[in-house]
Amino acid sequence: MSTVYQATASAPVNIAVIKYWGKRDTKLILPTNSSLSVTLDQDHLRSTTTSRADPSFVKDTLWLNGKEDEIKPGGRLATCISELKRLRQATVENEDPSAPKLSTYKVHIASYNNFPTAAGLASSASGFAALVASLAQLYALPVSPSTLSIIARQGSGSACRSLYGGFVAWQEGVLPDGSDSLAVQVAPQSHWPEIHALICVVSDDKKGTSSTSGMQLTVETSTLLQHRIKAVVPQRMKDISKAILEKDFDTFARITMADSNQFHAVALDTEPPIFYMNDVSRAIIAVIVEYNRLSLANGQGYKAAYTYDAGPNAVIYAEEKNIKEIIQLIVSFFPQREGTFKDNLGVFAQGAEVNAQAAVPAGFNGLIHTRVGDGPRALGEEEALLGPEGTPK
Ligand code: DP6
Repeated sequence: MSTVYQATASAPVNIAVIKYWGKRDTKLILPTNSSLSVTLDQDHLRSTTTSRADPSFVKDTLWLNGKEDEIKPGGRLATCISELKRLRQATVENEDPSAPKLSTYKVHIASYNNFPTAAGLASSASGFAALVASLAQLYALPVSPSTLSIIARQGSGSACRSLYGGFVAWQEGVLPDGSDSLAVQVAPQSHWPEIHALICVVSDDKKGTSSTSGMQLTVETSTLLQHRIKAVVPQRMKDISKAILEKDFDTFARITMADSNQFHAVALDTEPPIFYMNDVSRAIIAVIVEYNRLSLANGQGYKAAYTYDAGPNAVIYAEEKNIKEIIQLIVSFFPQREGTFKDNLGVFAQGAEVNAQAAVPAGFNGLIHTRVGDGPRALGEEEALLGPEGTPK
């Protein structure tokens, strides 16, 4: 029997606290500013990808959640795959003539997200990170996650930050070829494991403006964005990195909320204006602001920080010691449908009633409790998504 060249990896979701919004190069996906995110726990939210290289395959093929997806020539997927093949050739095959020429074989790739797209969570970051991690494993690439992040970045900008666990900066870089626009780890998960996240899934009927097109409109029309890029983000990157290293939640929370607010302000400053938050999003802000106000008045500092991406969902970062109180607060203001809150981390006693039985207000769809997590994982054969024929199981 001939050798099967196959690898499976999973990768996490990340949610930025300093937002990436704007490209200076749309093909290479080079950003107009650096950004910083928290990697979330793959035990709860992840993308898993299996890649196989075989001389009998006739074309590179990708299945996403079991359905074949087109790999457009010159598109983001094709770029990532060809960059990884090029790296295989340069770092493995050219170095060791006995290494199998996997870079010349077509690949079959199956990818699966364990969270529904309907949850309103962007899957492009974890998806591209898992794709890059699985091909890097298949090709046995002797390179760092930062080098891999350069490739994942060309799939989707925010994906580069999912190559590391913990707290991750994407350094914008200055070189026109993008070789210094990469992710670095500010601190590992183990440095501050007490950082938890509550994802408030807010329903969204209308399909909003995508990040890719929205941010380019902002680059072309917003004067506020230029101020943000030059005068605001560089200092915030320094300050929030320091806050993370010192586990200073007060500063972390203040900067996180300010940066989310400014990102939505530059969206509003776009012509035509872009609105990502809705009434439910704004009501969650009001609850968190009031909660922090009382906590500050009691001399306890900030206890929660909200942040919003290009949609109405809130992500609330908080320290573990306050998370139960915050879940109770959110559930009391935004009652859950039975079963929509999954107590992933067991902060409530078994069988405890945390889903209020009241009617769910329009617009609130569920709550996911998770925390800071690790980077991509290599998975065993038993988790592979491709069957013996090299097609999805
Ligand atoms: C608001 O990474 O999805 O989530 O590079 O065009 O694929 P592309 O955009 P994408 O943008 C994410 C924007 C954001 C902020 C962030 O994650 O930093």
